[in-house]
Amino acid sequence: MTAGDDEREALRERAASLPAIRLSARTVSDLELLGNGGYSPLCGFMSRADYDSVVESMRLASGLPWPIPITLAVSDDESRGLKEGGEVALADEAGTVLAVLSLAERFTYDKRREAQAVYRTEEDAHPGVAAVYRQGEVLLSGPVRVIDLPPHDDYPAHRLTPAQTRAAFKERGWGTVVGFQTRNPVHRAHEYIQKCAMETVDGLLLHPLVGETKGDDIPADVRMRCYEVLLELYYPADRVLLSVNPAAMRYAGPREAIFHAIVRKNYGCTHFIVGRDHAGVGKYYGTYDAQRIFREFPDGELGITPMYFDHTFFCKRCAGMASAKTCPHEAADRVILSGTQVREMLKGGLLPPPEFTRPEVAEVLLKSMQERTTPRYAV
Ligand code: ADX
Ligand code: MG
Repeated sequence: MTAGDDEREALRERAASLPAIRLSARTVSDLELLGNGGYSPLCGFMSRADYDSVVESMRLASGLPWPIPITLAVSDDESRGLKEGGEVALADEAGTVLAVLSLAERFTYDKRREAQAVYRTEEDAHPGVAAVYRQGEVLLSGPVRVIDLPPHDDYPAHRLTPAQTRAAFKERGWGTVVGFQTRNPVHRAHEYIQKCAMETVDGLLLHPLVGETKGDDIPADVRMRCYEVLLELYYPADRVLLSVNPAAMRYAGPREAIFHAIVRKNYGCTHFIVGRDHAGVGKYYGTYDAQRIFREFPDGELGITPMYFDHTFFCKRCAGMASAKTCPHEAADRVILSGTQVREMLKGGLLPPPEFTRPEVAEVLLKSMQERTTPRYAV
């Protein structure tokens, strides 16, 4: 939790004399969500009992649903000298102290077991698994008091906390709100499923994830420009709120879909979109595994209603967006492009077709690609 004004100064002073640890960017993202309520009911990094229970059964030791470990990993060296029952200052990569951890436990863990249970693979070619393998060998647990939320100077207008998004929904009179997770520019397929959902709820929280993503994903600042252009030209302003989720991407597919839904519930959403291969990467998960996993929780238990969508695309014969559920035509009539194909087009200076991406969004993508390419002399 974030400390109140009166506590903050005292914490800051105390933190100055505590042993300090520098957190990775990924852990800073988790700290931000612990501090702003996005990870409610968690109030700190997981204990051994919670960690084991989450890994084994997608539930906290209390029985509440929680599918992804939220841990503070440090090296053997860093953990040496830290005392259970003592306090530790938590700093970002620049060394700014952000929080104080009341160190309850220090324990070792089995990374391969975590990988297999959470990511369904032990391969380090999986970016989420690789991140687990990269981190330290010791986990520190305990409640955190956040002194300051991590500072951000990018898109401050879209950095709403759960309390702020809830207040915004109330002010707009939205009783039902569908959340949309994305780590990509919004293409026509995304737009279509959002708008199908919007037909039955009051509002849309477009909630892109802007924490760490894998190297070949489109950077968050470029995506934000895409979202702004798209919303301005194609969405009614009084039905959409654009705000960011500071979390890092895990690429844990099914388990991450549950996690994404719980976090969006905390941000005030009543519904959550789960489409094809949600939070997937490569060929690690089946196309609809991330929908199927919701059945493992009794109706109502998650406190947010998933809205499922089949693989959607533009069909030339339907002359509109459709899915296998609504379109009887053949593959040749359907405009379906992979992320890699789109990246190749952009690299070659080509715009993806308007059936796939709105032209104004395609322009933003192409321009960003050109800005990032250093001109070279022909030989
Ligand atoms: S991710 O977090 O799931 O990796 P991504 O931007 O790829 O983000 O997708 C956002 C959401 O849109 C997810 O729920 C995903 O399942 C859904 N989605 C993406 N493309 C399609 C598509 N062509 N048809 C149906 N759903 C899709
Ligand atoms: Mg995807």
